Amino acid sequence: MYKFKSKPVLPSDITSESVWLARRRYVQQAVALGLISMAAPYQAWGQERSWSVEENTRWPIDEPPTAEKHIVNYNNFYEFGLGKEDPALYAGSMRTDPWVVRIDGEVERPLELDIEQIRKLAPLEERIYRLRCVEAWSMVVPWVGFSLSVLLRQVQPTSKAKYVRFETVADHASMRGLQSRVLQWPYAEGLRIDEAMHPLTMLVLGLYGKELPNQNGAPLRLMVPWKYGFKSAKSLVRISFVEEQPVSSWMAVAPQEYGFFANVNPDVAHPRWSQASERKIGSGIFAARQATLPFNGYAEDVAHMYSSMDLRRYY
Ligand code: MTE
Repeated sequence: MYKFKSKPVLPSDITSESVWLARRRYVQQAVALGLISMAAPYQAWGQERSWSVEENTRWPIDEPPTAEKHIVNYNNFYEFGLGKEDPALYAGSMRTDPWVVRIDGEVERPLELDIEQIRKLAPLEERIYRLRCVEAWSMVVPWVGFSLSVLLRQVQPTSKAKYVRFETVADHASMRGLQSRVLQWPYAEGLRIDEAMHPLTMLVLGLYGKELPNQNGAPLRLMVPWKYGFKSAKSLVRISFVEEQPVSSWMAVAPQEYGFFANVNPDVAHPRWSQASERKIGSGIFAARQATLPFNGYAEDVAHMYSSMDLRRYY
């Protein structure tokens, strides 16, 4: 069984001091330039409520965030259609309040929590993480939320729990894409328990200091920055501890293209796209591509979890 650490993870536990200091310098400069508004009041979209976002300097990144307009208008959310513009066009019809998330499976204490209860589990943090899609586009986003481990600890997994399965909403009334058989619905993803408990794995409630827009996975999504974007399931309704490795929606339709692990790996090409380089969204089709980094730049924090695995086999 995975051993839960109760001690908070310090930056020095995760990243070497020099890298951490360099990243921290970048964030301080970016804050000074007004690129990022850390610890700014968090204004919910269309609501009176506001709350504060804790400054997070644990995983700063040496790239400026992508312009917000690209992040909310160029999306993959197949429940609303296959086009990149479809989610922004059609996801507005999804009702996100009330919203309940079930946390169950191999646990001592299954729970059903609404978004308010989840939000109160920990102070919200703004973390700038990269996301890279297997289709070779990438982005840098100030996500708002906290480590998924905070939520997972609430339910006390049993000794049988080895993986975590994520299920997202499938609402036929508002999701036109569910008519298509391109994926298995409801959309499902999975992580090994150590990956799910890793402090970088984030439960996201907002971006750019605001509540998540529907097209980005309101009211609650996953963000696993060292894995391809498809691991970051949107609009979560159920999180289950399980004994067997879950079959994700992508594995079910194309196992030869989408493996369970999906770690960003420039050395292992996808059958249809090279994974050696990427294009930052919003940079224009003629912009120079940049080299993709192993584990999307988070190798120092996460590579140890795969040290005994052949990553060509476990892609
Ligand atoms: N979650 C659901 N429920 N449905 C989806 O189609 N697409 C995935 C992931 N999460 C998807 C999903 C894929 S392929 C990517 S690349 C990311 O969401 C995209 O996240 P973004 O639109 O916020 O950039």
